[in-house]
Amino acid sequence: MKPPLPCSEMVDIHAHILPGLDDGPQTLEESLALAQCYAKVGIRKIICTSHFIPGTAWAATREQMLEKLAVTQEYLRGHDVDLTLYPGMEVAFHRKLRGRLEEGKILPLANSSRYLLEPSFSDSADELLATIETLAGDGYRFILAHPERIPPIQATVHSVITFAAESELEIQLNIGSLLGRYGRESQRAGMEFISRSCVHYLASDAHGAASRRPPAAEDWQELAEMVGVDLLTRCCCTNPANLINGI
Ligand SMILES: [Fe+2]
Repeated sequence: MKPPLPCSEMVDIHAHILPGLDDGPQTLEESLALAQCYAKVGIRKIICTSHFIPGTAWAATREQMLEKLAVTQEYLRGHDVDLTLYPGMEVAFHRKLRGRLEEGKILPLANSSRYLLEPSFSDSADELLATIETLAGDGYRFILAHPERIPPIQATVHSVITFAAESELEIQLNIGSLLGRYGRESQRAGMEFISRSCVHYLASDAHGAASRRPPAAEDWQELAEMVGVDLLTRCCCTNPANLINGI
């Protein structure tokens, strides 16, 4: 096997690093600790994707998220951490999604045209896919966050794969799923997406320095052996870099 690109070339498009907005870090110090995990493997660019779940405590406005990003970025610089934070949010699928998109209340990933959309963990994906299809007609583009972790999708992976293949829906898997850290079903479903060539991004979905961390060097090597160097490079480095560079 040819050696993979170094982990430092990864651009993480799914990370909960902004403090006090969701179940990620609660303080700037905890955000710094998470940022230092990235710095340790040389990763320099990540997209901040705090949860946006309307009706819950995890529903900061885009203005609040952008303000928190600026404060956090400044704090990291003040502690000599070379990590550039890009804006984004992980928006939970909900009935008022269209209205909020039209009002500009949802942050796309890194000022691109793509939104990171989290499926419901309990509802069937039928309404989600129907909404994505309708919104696609109006030019909205989505990246589905970790479908392999969603029980209703685990049961019908093939239908999501077929839908994605026939549309512009992109798929993001969690690295931890492939490494077995969310259980066997998530790993099996994740590998099914991979075996059907239906994955566009692999991301950490990092939540902190203590658990659900960014990939370590040994994780990177294990991933390369599992999915192959080409897919790892494309889904962790090339496609994410294109996303933040507007390509
Ligand atoms: Fe997430």
